[in-house]
Amino acid sequence: MKCIFNGEIVDASQVALPINDLAVLRGYGIFDFFRLSDGVPLFVDDHLKRFYNSAQVARLPISISQTELKSLIFDLILENQMPLSGIRMVLTGGTGAGAYAIGIPNLIVTQESIKFPSEEMYQQGVKLITHEYLRDIPEVKTINYMTGIWLQQKIDDAGAFDVIYHHKGLVHELTRSNVFVVNADHQIITPKDHVLLGVTRGHLLKALANQFEVIEKELPIEHLRIAKEIFITGTTKKVLPISQIDDVAYEIGEVTQKAQALFKDIEQQYIGSH
Ligand SMILES: Cc1ncc(COP(=O)(O)O)c(C=O)c1O
Repeated sequence: MKCIFNGEIVDASQVALPINDLAVLRGYGIFDFFRLSDGVPLFVDDHLKRFYNSAQVARLPISISQTELKSLIFDLILENQMPLSGIRMVLTGGTGAGAYAIGIPNLIVTQESIKFPSEEMYQQGVKLITHEYLRDIPEVKTINYMTGIWLQQKIDDAGAFDVIYHHKGLVHELTRSNVFVVNADHQIITPKDHVLLGVTRGHLLKALANQFEVIEKELPIEHLRIAKEIFITGTTKKVLPISQIDDVAYEIGEVTQKAQALFKDIEQQYIGSH
């Protein structure tokens, strides 16, 4: 398996990250992740844009331009030949400035296999539990998933799929997905502040807005209890229905099914034109 390390395509087994990299010492770094669908890098420009934006907000310089990185990634895809896989771009806090300061970042791009939820999950939905937490610099895709990974045992014990985060009475997002709620007035609500603006979320929002009233606004936690339908979105989730949050059950309704169909169309159209 090949990967990209600081601008060069090399054998993944040959790459070693310095042990004094700020990512290792302090968990400081950013990343982004997209998938190949039928060999096509899905929404690659959106992910590159978010990656460079995360880097800028996190004050991490990237040694190559977005165009150069994209071209290198396309070369990597040709080398590895994995038509159904994920591409992970990671930018570390770097080395050279001590153990508590941003140094010269290392840029790593790897390709890996991916797994989607089962067909049964897409049809019958999945369970979530709630947890009070706000991600650090939520608009940035940081490598810090400490709370989510720490909670995995609790999630498993509850027979749940994932955890949904709320903070000071407002629901934000899941560990690795965005949330959409359908209320009694058939409006679709999705939080927009203090969340990572998902690429899946963005594409789906545009398509949903042609057929429904879609509102990006604050989502009080009490509104979860009275929601009619809830679904989540993400690169490796696509559009996944929610059947239960803590002890409240939800139907998998028409809006969720429509959102699933719309996203399928968006993906097919993208593949067809790239
Ligand atoms: C915190 C967080 N929110 C939302 C998402 C969904 O974003 P996307 O649709 O771009 O995969 C992710 C993706 O991993 C994430 O880490």
